[in-house]
Amino acid sequence: MINIKNLTVFIKNKKILDDINIHINKGETFVILGESGAGKTIFLKTVIGLIKADAGEIIICGANISQIDENKLLDLRQKTGMVFQSSALFDSLTIWENVGFFLLEHTNLSDGEIREKAEKSLNSVGLKDILDEMPEHLSGGMKKRVGIARALINHPEIIFYDEPTAGLDPVTSESILSLVAKIHKEYKTTDVIVTHDLGIAKKFSDRVAIIDDGRIFTVGTWEEVVKTGHPIVSQKE
Ligand SMILES: Nc1ncnc2c1ncn2[C@@H]1O[C@H](COP(=O)(O)OP(=O)(O)OP(=O)(O)O)[C@@H](O)[C@H]1O
Ligand SMILES: [Mg+2]
Repeated sequence: MINIKNLTVFIKNKKILDDINIHINKGETFVILGESGAGKTIFLKTVIGLIKADAGEIIICGANISQIDENKLLDLRQKTGMVFQSSALFDSLTIWENVGFFLLEHTNLSDGEIREKAEKSLNSVGLKDILDEMPEHLSGGMKKRVGIARALINHPEIIFYDEPTAGLDPVTSESILSLVAKIHKEYKTTDVIVTHDLGIAKKFSDRVAIIDDGRIFTVGTWEEVVKTGHPIVSQKE
């Protein structure tokens, strides 16, 4: 489903991702654990084509994202959804416009049709009657749900989650994680979750990778990566 070979990314002359090799299978929940600054967000942004790789290959659903043209990249974007760290909603847009942003930008669908799709997507993350609200009026947990609704709007095959529980209290975190699990089951998505939350890796992952200073330290099941004794999996939960 996702095949990453020798991926290297520099930002401002600093090597941020260093020769990353990862293969993610269809239907898998793949968790990438790493400390703050390890390169998790840069990794996701590179995989979805927002940041250009300096070396290596990223193959998603059979397409090499560095070689395909703009139209094919848009097709591929429709097959993937990204839930950004801190939700990344546009403050000046209503909730339905945020959820339907991709469709507003890249399709000829009417506003009415997009609104309807946004409503369905919001319903499937448990939100009702907030289509015309502004993001500033929502709680952190609701913003996360809106971010998930936005990622879901095209019924993606793959969802990338950047720190889905960061900044949320424990109860809200649990409810977001239940939602992630529900979507995984209902939509049969392949999930890539980056986090420093060990609980997510332990409870949800089929496999875990540890990313440390831009390099993959290890990949395996939770039990296997714990055995490596890497500091990130040796810390107290
Ligand atoms: N625009 C930028 N300019 C310069 N350096 C950057 C930029 N964006 C990120 N970096 C650097 O790249 C490294 C990786 O950043 P990244 O945001 O991917 O970390 P992260 O693992 O997502 O951390 P966090 O858990 O805090 O979100 C960090 O050292 C960061 O300082
Ligand atoms: Mg990050």
